[in-house]
Amino acid sequence: MEGLERMVGSASTTFEVGCSVRRAAPIVLVLALMNLAASGAAIGQTPPLGDAAHGKVVFQQRCGLCHLAAPDDGDGGQGPSLVGVVGRKAGSSPEFGYTDALKASGRIWTPQALDAFLTAPSTVVPGTAMPMAVPNPKDRADLIAYLKTVK
Ligand code: HEC
Repeated sequence: MEGLERMVGSASTTFEVGCSVRRAAPIVLVLALMNLAASGAAIGQTPPLGDAAHGKVVFQQRCGLCHLAAPDDGDGGQGPSLVGVVGRKAGSSPEFGYTDALKASGRIWTPQALDAFLTAPSTVVPGTAMPMAVPNPKDRADLIAYLKTVK
């Protein structure tokens, strides 16, 4: 997102030269998005959405303190194991004492459900003890790609 904002920022400076700012804004956004897509395709190094290797790094940094997905992820002592979490019913790991809120949420952790939950856990499941939001969509996609690999 930061990258996109930066692109929108720089695109509008060049574009404003001949146009009124207000008229230009939507066009600039479209141009910026096209630019983003084009640069990704052209460079060929931009990782595709859902880069599991990067997801593991993010996991180790932000989740490993409380969750375990692989033995080298961290201590994992304060949250449920996330091995096999994709496709699992929320609050169903037998070794962990979940909040009633999460158990009663009736969710199945599909990639979409995980994406929503990780965006704002306590908004999606009010009363959950899961404290860590991941605001960046790419980090979420990468995390979910990683979680798909731990079964
Ligand atoms: C400070 C500890 C902590 C951190 C850091 C943390 N979590 Fe959690 N997480 C929890 C706890 C505690 C629960 C159980 C919540 C409940 O019972 O309401 C949980 C629950 C979950 C669940 C639901 C699991 C299930 O079995 O239903 C998922 C998915 C999850 N966390 C993903 C993550 C991810 C991904 C990260 C890193 C971005 C993360 N968590 C970071 C403590 C943490």
